Amino acid sequence: MQTHIQKGPHSQLLHQLRSSLLSLCSDSHLICIYNFFQVDRFLHKMRLNDEQLNDISARFQAEMKKGLSAESNAAAAVKMLPTHVRSTPDGTEKGQFLALDLGGSKFKVLQIKVREDQGIRKGGVEIEEKTYPIPNEVLNGRGTELFDHVSESLKDFMHEKNINPKKKHPLAFTFSFPCEQPTLDQGFLLEWTKDFSVRGLQGKDVVDSLRQAIKRTGGMDMEILAMVNDTVATMMTCGFDDKNCEVGVIIGSGTNACYMEQLNHVDLVEGDEGQMCVSTEWGALGDDGTLDDYITEFDREVDACSINPGKQIFEKMVSGMYLGELVRLVVLKMAKLGLLFDGRVTNALRTKGTITTAHVAAMEEYKNCLGHTREILESLNLSPSADDCIAVQHISTIVSFRSSNLVAAGLAAILTRIQKNRNTRELRITIGVDGTVYKTHPQYPKRLHKVVRRLLPECHVRFVLSESGSSKGAALVSAVAQRLASRKRQTLNSFKLSWEQLQLVKARMRAALQAGLKTDGPSEVKMLPSFVYRTPDGSEHGKYLALDLGGTNFRAMLVNFKKGLQQNTKLYHKIYKIPLEIMQGTGEELFDYLAQCVGDFLDYMGMKNTRLPAGFTFSFPCEQTALDTATLLSWTKGFKATNCEGHDVVDMLREAIKRRDEFDLDIVALVNDTVGTLMSCAYEDPQCQVALIAGTGSNVCYMEEVKNIENDADFSKMCINTEWGGLGDDGTLDDIMTSDDTEVDQNSINPGKQRFEKLTSGMYLGEIVRRVLLNLTIRGLLFKGYVSEALKTPGIFETKYLSQIESDRLALLQVRSILQHMGLEGTCVDIITVKEVCGAISRRAAQLCGAGMAAVVDKIRENRGLDRLNITVGVDGTLYKLHPHFSRILQETTRALAPQCDVTFLPSEEGSGKGAALIAALAKHMQ
Ligand code: BG6
Ligand code: GLC
Ligand code: GLC
Repeated sequence: MQTHIQKGPHSQLLHQLRSSLLSLCSDSHLICIYNFFQVDRFLHKMRLNDEQLNDISARFQAEMKKGLSAESNAAAAVKMLPTHVRSTPDGTEKGQFLALDLGGSKFKVLQIKVREDQGIRKGGVEIEEKTYPIPNEVLNGRGTELFDHVSESLKDFMHEKNINPKKKHPLAFTFSFPCEQPTLDQGFLLEWTKDFSVRGLQGKDVVDSLRQAIKRTGGMDMEILAMVNDTVATMMTCGFDDKNCEVGVIIGSGTNACYMEQLNHVDLVEGDEGQMCVSTEWGALGDDGTLDDYITEFDREVDACSINPGKQIFEKMVSGMYLGELVRLVVLKMAKLGLLFDGRVTNALRTKGTITTAHVAAMEEYKNCLGHTREILESLNLSPSADDCIAVQHISTIVSFRSSNLVAAGLAAILTRIQKNRNTRELRITIGVDGTVYKTHPQYPKRLHKVVRRLLPECHVRFVLSESGSSKGAALVSAVAQRLASRKRQTLNSFKLSWEQLQLVKARMRAALQAGLKTDGPSEVKMLPSFVYRTPDGSEHGKYLALDLGGTNFRAMLVNFKKGLQQNTKLYHKIYKIPLEIMQGTGEELFDYLAQCVGDFLDYMGMKNTRLPAGFTFSFPCEQTALDTATLLSWTKGFKATNCEGHDVVDMLREAIKRRDEFDLDIVALVNDTVGTLMSCAYEDPQCQVALIAGTGSNVCYMEEVKNIENDADFSKMCINTEWGGLGDDGTLDDIMTSDDTEVDQNSINPGKQRFEKLTSGMYLGEIVRRVLLNLTIRGLLFKGYVSEALKTPGIFETKYLSQIESDRLALLQVRSILQHMGLEGTCVDIITVKEVCGAISRRAAQLCGAGMAAVVDKIRENRGLDRLNITVGVDGTLYKLHPHFSRILQETTRALAPQCDVTFLPSEEGSGKGAALIAALAKHMQ
């Protein structure tokens, strides 16, 4: 045996030691011991004892905390990325998915079928896969080229496996790089790791890049449901068969681990309940110097020659991308020092990458003795002696042992954290593992398991190899995402009305109108006579006072009509807000307040001493026996002042005026707002025979034939206030009401009443939206499952917001700021969902009104025995006037459901107040 030890600081000592060992015994074991000793000494820094491993574990625990906290995350080396995966598989996952697996040593396209309630071992998952090599120029090219390659491979795969390109396929995407994920289907690349260095993708959403590429390639229809890191996918794969699997580890080209963390510890994601998988990105441990005292000169050199110097320090000590290189650098150094190969060094040994991790694994196949080691060294043009081979094999062992020791320290840190989270000493947990190093290195798994168990003797740790890669897990995540998306769709669909349902609503409204006209027995649609027998004809003249109570405001108005000069009607008005305590106080207080407002208005107009004729628009259901007597049947909308129901409200106003004793009024008419609107619109357009209010409340009036009403008037027609808002109060709309509608009804001040109104009017639509959003959030489908105070607050979602949110002119950012104004913070996807919910609910409201309107106009047509009816509907109300789509959908539905009527909708200009003044004028005229 020859050894030249000429160089190096300890050569003399080693030489002596070797001679004395040889003189003691010529046994080859001793040579072995000698070489071991020499290498051990040389690499002593790589040999980590348990104390050091515990120290590293403690440092990693501190780094994990730093990464989880919102304050320190930005500066933390270990990023602790939230993954939006909230649970491990529960066996109910199912579906057929295409999958892409990018970022490991192989790029694969797969097709995965998951059957419900069958674990992987029971054959619950079927996989077909194909590996597509990524050319080097693509790995170092532009982002678009990389994703074009990916999507073309996908297309090729579909073609080869005869997968229908016309169908929409759900796609799961494993992307094994650090990404910031605001949602499951978005991933902003933080930086490349391993050997990828593709231009133009850092900071970009890779899911979107993939989507764009799929579009460019064409001929496929994909819905990308989820993007997951390989660690997460591995945990899910193994979790399908083992419910205890809450950790995933990759020891492959790169290294990383994920685990299930308590959501309240994940500062970057709102919400406190439940868990979320966090991808630690532990490869970056040490990037801020945390591991400096454990780093050797070889680690520094590997780092310096990598594509990402200073980054992924832990990964570079552990993973397959670097282990071979570490061994090469040690061997080279030792050879240069004359400690190996008689001090001879070859070009191949000097060349980066000539010793790979596969070589390391082969050299450590001890049953092959030194055969592989020799072959490998010879392939590098070296002529190793037996003890060179022993030494090099031992170098490999130290390097790969250090790797498994470091992983063990990392896992000990994660398990300790989980143990603390659960507040238990005895932890039973399974770790899912994947990656070429773990799978192909003969000693690695055993060593890793042993050290983890030694470091945490009180834990029962099971290691499970993810047999067929991570895509299975990605498909499982996608299956859950798909189920959630379909639940969301189901919710939205429950607000969709079919053509048949709309026809049924029309028919029910028609029957209710008919029933309401008959005086015997109560009816859900009251059909209240208004004692208004005709619409204005332009001959009205004089000054009138109009009062208007119906929404949140009271309006007092002075109108001056000039004969035949509709356009020159003079109007003066003042608006008074009605405080909630008045709306819901006593009747006397309410009417005293109204009298006070009228007094103020007359003061303002300087007319306190004139006894003006007045019309009173009162937008609640009243039983009238004449134009100026009106018994309030029941409050609707937000009013509930006591001692009014069952009383004549004209009297109540007269008495309040008397009590005030400041002015006098001649109240000649009380009209519903629909009737006022009809008058005011008919003043402009004599075709106007119907009026609709689509505002805080919802109601319609129309001119009915007196012969159909039990009334002995001499006129042929009378305006009927339908009070159609009561449709459904006897259960006729139960089949279209959703659970959210029922909740809104039950929590209103008049449960069970005004059901049609509650589906169609401004007072309730926002509240339905809030309920739906709340329930979606509780089910984890929105706002990341975080139920904010705002969302819990009834009434927060005013219908004006609905109108704003649905405006086509608003960009998502503006919608976001409206939501923020309400205290609702959401991602882009959340905002889109909110918009969809608003759209579904306002659309249904408009369609229901359209169906009701079709019933009304068809009745008028049939009353008149006409084949075709030309008619105008006067309309008022904030929902109609402010909502961007309500009026269009209402009109479309009316036309579709009443094809024999040509219906023109005429928005009222001056509101129903002017109509009340017109009725007062009509009444005066008749007196
Ligand atoms: C595979 C996964 O099984 O393991 C990949 O499907 C992952 O997504 C890989 O990146 C890690 O191992 P390696 O050794 O291929 O980097
Ligand atoms: C690298 C990546 C990480 C991945 C790991 C294993 O560390 O940054 O995301 O999980 O490699 O593939
Ligand atoms: C409510 C009232 C009704 C009114 C409608 C519109 O439905 O009961 O009288 O017309 O709101 O304001």
